[in-house]
Amino acid sequence: MKIKLNTVLLSLLSCNLAMAQKVNVKQAFSAAAKQTTLLVNNVNSARLLKPNLVSPRTVEKGQFKMVVSKDWTSGFFPAQLWYLYQYTKDNTWLDLARKYTQDIKKEQYNRGTHDLGFMIYCPFGNGYRLTGDTAYKAVIIQAARSLSSRFNKTAGVIKSWDHNGDKWKYPVIIDNMMNLELLFEATKMTGDSSFYKVAVSHADQTIKNHFRPDFSSYHVIDYDTLNAGKVLQKLTAQGYANESAWARGQAWALYGYTLCFRETRNKTYLAQADGIANFILNNKTTPADGIPYWDYNDPKIPNVSRDASAAAITASALYELAKYSNSAKRYKAAADKILYSLSTQYTSRIGGNYGFILEHSTGHLPAKSEIDVPINYADYYYLEALLRSK
Ligand code: GLY
Repeated sequence: MKIKLNTVLLSLLSCNLAMAQKVNVKQAFSAAAKQTTLLVNNVNSARLLKPNLVSPRTVEKGQFKMVVSKDWTSGFFPAQLWYLYQYTKDNTWLDLARKYTQDIKKEQYNRGTHDLGFMIYCPFGNGYRLTGDTAYKAVIIQAARSLSSRFNKTAGVIKSWDHNGDKWKYPVIIDNMMNLELLFEATKMTGDSSFYKVAVSHADQTIKNHFRPDFSSYHVIDYDTLNAGKVLQKLTAQGYANESAWARGQAWALYGYTLCFRETRNKTYLAQADGIANFILNNKTTPADGIPYWDYNDPKIPNVSRDASAAAITASALYELAKYSNSAKRYKAAADKILYSLSTQYTSRIGGNYGFILEHSTGHLPAKSEIDVPINYADYYYLEALLRSK
């Protein structure tokens, strides 16, 4: 009995300790600022050799990798600089954010991808929010026009990819939910409701076709735009299998429906976000630190890589969802736990990883690409989650 009592006391104590574990935002931003200073230096050196490379993306096999502005991740670096400016109010970060945001500007006319929310809205949206610069607003509106050009009325969704036409006809990936924020914003800026309508149609069709009964999401849905928008195939591209739940895909879905509720107040979107949050938070494969493996259904768990980026996106989404949902306390506690883990166990050592903040993300495992690496979007959503945690 004595042993049992001690066990109970110990577990209560550790439970309290776990509850007390909250990220130190000041310390985390201070480390992030040191790393980002190094990152900016590395970006500048790389650009001396190859000026068309604009943003840092990852480190693979010890190599620092930069990308051109049409890469889907090009906007995260300038957007990260905006978050550093937001937190510190230091004009050094403002100047850097302004400078590197300009490099992505031409993508406002890019009609070849759905990723314009990531590429344009992350840097220009934050830039506009923090400075009110009307030049940024114009870029956002043009990007929303480009993105809307990919909408098909029959299927009611925006086409994600133009590549791999032999594998699918009209692919829509769950990640696409993230790009709707750009459209909602463009309607607020212009009063033109067509952007809003495209976003709502896309979100509604995605609820209908992308999810399983347990609220986990497929990665790719292939539509037949000639035949009433019929679903042709349900697939994966970056996950373990067509029927698996790719971790980052679930995070995009959670974030996407949370922002759709914010913009529309439609309770269906809130219920969807709650359902997705339950899928993520109840998943038994996720270790106690709250950082998921790269795919919830990889049979090799626990001997597979984690995805810190999925965790960072999830934490940021949960902080926002906590503002709307009846499960606020649970979501906030889960987000706190993820952020604490990321900031204490998943950060690069200061001066390491070329200046990336986090390590242990997984980009595209089936393509054997970016496995257990630092990655720019993990850093961006980590900073966003830190800001939201306050
Ligand atoms: N949007 C692509 C990815 O999450 O890897």
